Amino acid sequence: MMATAAERGGLLGRVKSLDAILATAEKKGLHRSLGAFQLTLLGIGAVIGTGIFVLTAEAAQKAGPAMMISFVIAGVVCAVAALCYSELASMVPVAGSAYTYTYAVMGELFAWMVGWALILEYAIGASAVAVGWSGYFVGLMKSWGIIIPPALAAGPFGGGVFNLPAAVIAGLVTVLLIVGTKESARFNAVLVLVKVTALTIFCILTLPILKGEHFTPFIPNGWGTYGVVGAAASIFFAYVGFDAVSTAAEETKNPQRNVPIGLIASLGICTIFYLLVAAGAIGAIGAQPVRDALGHPFPPGSIELTNQCNAIVAGGAEQPLVCSREALAHVLRSVGYQRLGDMMGVAAFIALPSVVLMMMFGQTRIFFVMARDGLLPEKLASVHPRFRTPHVVTAVTGVGVMLAAAFLPVGKLADYSNSGTLFAFMMVAISVLVLRRTDPNRRRPFRTPAVGIIAPIAIIGCIALYIMLPPIAIAVLPVWGVVGLLIYFGYSRSRSHVGRGITEVPELSPDAPPSVGVAPLPGAPAPGSPEERG
Ligand code: ALA
Repeated sequence: MMATAAERGGLLGRVKSLDAILATAEKKGLHRSLGAFQLTLLGIGAVIGTGIFVLTAEAAQKAGPAMMISFVIAGVVCAVAALCYSELASMVPVAGSAYTYTYAVMGELFAWMVGWALILEYAIGASAVAVGWSGYFVGLMKSWGIIIPPALAAGPFGGGVFNLPAAVIAGLVTVLLIVGTKESARFNAVLVLVKVTALTIFCILTLPILKGEHFTPFIPNGWGTYGVVGAAASIFFAYVGFDAVSTAAEETKNPQRNVPIGLIASLGICTIFYLLVAAGAIGAIGAQPVRDALGHPFPPGSIELTNQCNAIVAGGAEQPLVCSREALAHVLRSVGYQRLGDMMGVAAFIALPSVVLMMMFGQTRIFFVMARDGLLPEKLASVHPRFRTPHVVTAVTGVGVMLAAAFLPVGKLADYSNSGTLFAFMMVAISVLVLRRTDPNRRRPFRTPAVGIIAPIAIIGCIALYIMLPPIAIAVLPVWGVVGLLIYFGYSRSRSHVGRGITEVPELSPDAPPSVGVAPLPGAPAPGSPEERG
């Protein structure tokens, strides 16, 4: 199919036609096996992770007990973004998520920028979760009498040198992704159950022992970057991942109905859990920030905070919540549930790697689609002859994730990831508005309600959270963006299939994986099974 002149046009004119995207999806459609329930499980599986298990401590260092407000603010921004996602995901139920939508609506340059920003979301996000897992692993080993040498238990900002457990888990997930993901994805439902059970037990044990005095002062640091809204910008990470549901649209039965249900249900369930868990943690042991001699709170993730925390514990005092690298286990142990605290550690130990896996999945998927469009070398998406997985891109992603996880602290990684995610979400909200104007008559199986209000709130919310990130995280996005633009103009633009007039999607390999994203979940009929055919 030849592109129209408009499709090949100037700097902003290279728009991929929606019809071409949909026709391609129709022809090369991935196997459709997921229903609303499985999508919701997929969403919860991707969302609940380091954010609630670990970053609760960082949020408390910024917001104190008012981190509950921070959870609400971040949840609201995600909810409005999810409503925008749903409209596009139901209209354009193809792989590639925000990248594909932007390609159709605002053209290749913006799509490239979104795809590039999604690398921050997924790859850096995966590193953050790996570091979060490491905190629980080290704590669990300690409670079993095995001490990991401090130099290998954390990166340089956490008082160590090289975070070995974080690098190892990222490496293991990479290997798993290369040899085949089906087995691991089948466990998703079980892992969701583990996480939900762990959080439920946490609430049951802590909510009845809430102490009112632990909630005062409620807003110890004000509303700024190192206060309530700053904490919302960081804790936003706890909600990231729900867009995995939309990336699975191409594999969903009746996506028009099921994708919006999956997105909104998973987000709603997670928000309720987060608020209850935050209330339980604060109410049980308090959540006041640790301060320097002048009364200023230390920045989360700083070596100064680590040193002060070590000094507090060395002085014989109880470790404050904000100092813990395994916040929820720490709360349970502090109120006398040593064994259940360990069980919480085991739950995180088992379940967090699946979040690393989901995020690295997402990354390989985005790379795969970008390579399919000619914007990245097709070699990058080549498929392993035996394992039938995109091994090259997975290995490249894995090395990046391992390095970031080994040297950077969880909070900083989460903030960098957030800067990319917020940009992608903002572009999705803008795309919804633009498409309503440019293509008002196209069928919209799900319409964002009150789009004239919801989409602008999503855009403003994303910008507000972005500017409330710490300065370095704010700087990461433009610096990363400039690197991306150099690659785009130096390599991708001249090779783009749309730019070259090819809107037909070429086969990368006859063996291309049916899905690099989601393997059949429990209950889903296997491709080609009688159940599926029937
Ligand atoms: N929302 C995911 C987590 O908190 C990324 O780990």
